[in-house]
Amino acid sequence: MSRNSELPPVPADYDWEAFRANAHQTIDFIVDYQKALHARQIPVLPSCQPGDLRRSLAPSAPETPVSWERIMADVQTHVVPRMTHWQHPDFYAYFPSMAAPSAILGDMMASAMNQPGFNWICSPAATELELHVMDWLREAFALPETMSWGSTGGGVMQPSATEGMIVAQVSARTRKLADCPDVKLNDLVSYYSDQSHFCVEKASKVLGIQHLRKITSVYDPATGNYAMDPVLLESTMASDVATGLTPFFVSANFGATGVGAIDDVPAIAAIADKYKVWVNLDAAYAGVVAVLPELRPMLRGLDLVDSVLINGSKWFNLLFNSSFMFFTQKEYVVRALNATGAYLENKHTADNKVFDLKDYQLGLGRPFRSLKAYCTINSMGLQGFRDVLNRHITLAKYLAVQLTATDRIEIVRQVDFGLVCFRIKGASDDVNMAVMEKLNKTEGVHFVHTVTAHHGVVLRIALCHPQLTTEDMDGLVAKIVRSLP
Ligand SMILES: Cc1ncc(COP(=O)(O)O)c(C=O)c1O
Repeated sequence: MSRNSELPPVPADYDWEAFRANAHQTIDFIVDYQKALHARQIPVLPSCQPGDLRRSLAPSAPETPVSWERIMADVQTHVVPRMTHWQHPDFYAYFPSMAAPSAILGDMMASAMNQPGFNWICSPAATELELHVMDWLREAFALPETMSWGSTGGGVMQPSATEGMIVAQVSARTRKLADCPDVKLNDLVSYYSDQSHFCVEKASKVLGIQHLRKITSVYDPATGNYAMDPVLLESTMASDVATGLTPFFVSANFGATGVGAIDDVPAIAAIADKYKVWVNLDAAYAGVVAVLPELRPMLRGLDLVDSVLINGSKWFNLLFNSSFMFFTQKEYVVRALNATGAYLENKHTADNKVFDLKDYQLGLGRPFRSLKAYCTINSMGLQGFRDVLNRHITLAKYLAVQLTATDRIEIVRQVDFGLVCFRIKGASDDVNMAVMEKLNKTEGVHFVHTVTAHHGVVLRIALCHPQLTTEDMDGLVAKIVRSLP
């Protein structure tokens, strides 16, 4: 073949001037969407039935290009009405999933430059920006110096806390097997609390860990906290060792998903130290309060853990694909995850002068996550992040006071963060569930429940939207009150 004209055409999609026009249109769509949410012109929950969206779409993929206008119209007509709107001001479910405008722009640039920065040479900027941003965050969160890249440890952005949890456990396993080469894989035991997120169990399952110990937590009536029982943890580890098993990993909580449980990390770390067990801290939601100097004392024992997971994707404005994982011993992370091939060999790696981030994650290619982090940290300044957190904490405390003042509702967990956990006084679980369902169905708000050992069903309001106001809280209280039986 000698002439370009004989080649298949370049798809029109690669016309960058068309992209410019389409991108402007798309940005307009994004801004209009956000404004419509803020003005509550779109309900937080969709009213669709399972299968509705699929039924409304073409049964097969188009053979020929569809215009961008038509694609956007389809998104508007078919997709938007079937979404649960996580960025809606009346979304109070799970935990926040915040999306700062600067993060959206940073993500767009990262996507456009699409750097699969798996080793230094394939994108020096993607690698070094990540190391730099993670060192910035280590300092901003006042994490131990041992978690900085210049030290024995470091920090990377994982796609999710769950993948960070897998990396933490595989690193822990590698260290245990390095220290005790005779230990059999089938004899390893991992520990977590009954408050832990499922990601601890999932990570252990991925690794084929045969022995998982869910340690019961202890209810503190003064605060409503559920902290892993250290006495039970110690006795469980001791009896495991007595039967020939080998403890290797324990995950503590700082702000677990149900009612924001906080574990006694120094107590857990002291036990772990006896058995040379890797201590991980799952601070996926609440760990970001470390950026608030006045709340830092709540994060006790940070200097005693081997790894920490803090999500940039939840309460830290950075969209998905932003889970910070810090660790004190990069040696074991790399030993666990380093694999190579001829196509990856290069002088810089051979000279051992660079960090190749493929050795700190599950996959090979990785998006340029640090670019959006860099954009947002600069665009908001650390003070911007502090303001978001303080606004939610202040409003959550205000909401708890207003709910208590109704005399019909009891707050069942001290408000430490942006989460308010409550029950209708004297009402059964069924009544609590019915009130939640009524609010979700008829009052245009969305929140979920959890179940605790002491109270049974607990309703939880997680403050998520960055522009919430006291009027929003008052409105929410009024809606709750009128939904009571
Ligand atoms: C406390 C806690 N840990 C871990 C996770 C898992 O996060 P990811 O979705 O990033 O895997 C969550 C998610 O809600 C969480 O709340």
